[in-house]
Amino acid sequence: MYIFKKTPLGPINTLNKSKLKKFSLLGNAEVPGDKSISQRALIIGLASIGQTVIKGILDSNDVYYTLKAVEALGAKVDIDKNKKILTIKGVGLGNFKSPKKPIYMGNSGTGTRLLIGIVAGSNAIVTFYGDESLSNRPMDRIINPLKKMGANFIYSEGKKLPITVIGARKKGITMPIKYKSPVASAQIKSALILAGLTARGATRIEEPFKSRNYTEVMLKKCGVDINSKISKKYINTITVNGTSYLKNCNFNIPSDPSSALFIAVASLITKGSKVKVKNILYDTMRLKVFRILTKMGGIIKINKTSVDTCEIIAEHSILKNINLNQNDTTPLIDEFPALSIAAACGKGKMIMKGLGELRYKESDRFKSISEGLRNAGVQVNTFNDDMEIIGTRKVLGGNIIDAQNDHRIAMSFNLLSLFSEKPIKVIGNESITTSFPSFFSTLKSLKKCIG
Ligand code: S3P
Repeated sequence: MYIFKKTPLGPINTLNKSKLKKFSLLGNAEVPGDKSISQRALIIGLASIGQTVIKGILDSNDVYYTLKAVEALGAKVDIDKNKKILTIKGVGLGNFKSPKKPIYMGNSGTGTRLLIGIVAGSNAIVTFYGDESLSNRPMDRIINPLKKMGANFIYSEGKKLPITVIGARKKGITMPIKYKSPVASAQIKSALILAGLTARGATRIEEPFKSRNYTEVMLKKCGVDINSKISKKYINTITVNGTSYLKNCNFNIPSDPSSALFIAVASLITKGSKVKVKNILYDTMRLKVFRILTKMGGIIKINKTSVDTCEIIAEHSILKNINLNQNDTTPLIDEFPALSIAAACGKGKMIMKGLGELRYKESDRFKSISEGLRNAGVQVNTFNDDMEIIGTRKVLGGNIIDAQNDHRIAMSFNLLSLFSEKPIKVIGNESITTSFPSFFSTLKSLKKCIG
């Protein structure tokens, strides 16, 4: 289910080594729009007055379901399939339609948590549900603080989807709160900021480390009084003042660094490769993984091409594993699956600490990574939330991985199959359509036979 055009997922066998001669990855690649910004642009468009024009939106399943949700809540969306431009006519803050039917969110944790947040500060009653993976993800992390802001919820045991949100303004007002989040999470933070837009007064949120800040930056652009500051101990405090409207603004979305990482890692681990990925979002936090790969000996160049874009060039390299501590977890939160594949193909021991949050992603990534690598013949040691990967120049492979509806696990083990002696069979490649439908065709376009 895509917005503009159905990009076929195949040819999945592209990466199946047994059917190929030796190859390298060479040339230029493009990856689709940033997922976090795409989802936020739609939600902000819904809550703005006037028109929001969005260019460069990610055309994938997750974004499609967020778009359908935004329409169900009252936004009018015009889709120009040829120019790939979306125009949203918003309904303003707090006055959403209460859809008669529950809203299906597919696999999208970001779409769901942010929409629950914005509905919590409205007068609407909305039920959200999702696929098996999303139905297992914790929602208490947003429900508990949103209840304090005046919203009510109907949910089954475990505070997981399906969930009905009864907006705070249905019978009362949105209360501003002061909330200390136990985890650094852009989804938690954003849900509370979006609810706080209709509060009378300032909502203050603290997170232990700074997580990605697109909600803050995009709302500021729409005229919201929102500020953040980081303490010497890395605590990030965000203060947002309630407002009566969002000024409409347009968004031009660069390509997703997290998707670019998969192409870069493919190039780093495949002999003779050199790939350039263009028009990538320039954001130091999201690019941190490339600096870590450089530290590991990866031949990577990042060339800034505009205020908010860059191109990334990655060449085949002999990677040497390093130690990562807990401070690195937040900026790398989505990148551990691909980084673990790079570590498995590197030399020496990779130590990654404080990975507890990986258990709450589209799958339990701590488990999927450690078990998947072990089954492929890589030594992995785990201690509570820490993981050690012992790199090997000869990954055996030949195993089967169930990606369990997790796009990043599916893409990661397809990458390992490029390097392993025997191909790895991934079950659940369809999940890749949530973020990077052109993953296989992009790799295919780069593949050049060399023997
Ligand atoms: C996202 C936040 C991250 C990340 C997810 C996208 C966002 O989750 O894993 O893929 O767009 O807000 P957490 O902030 O919950 O860690």
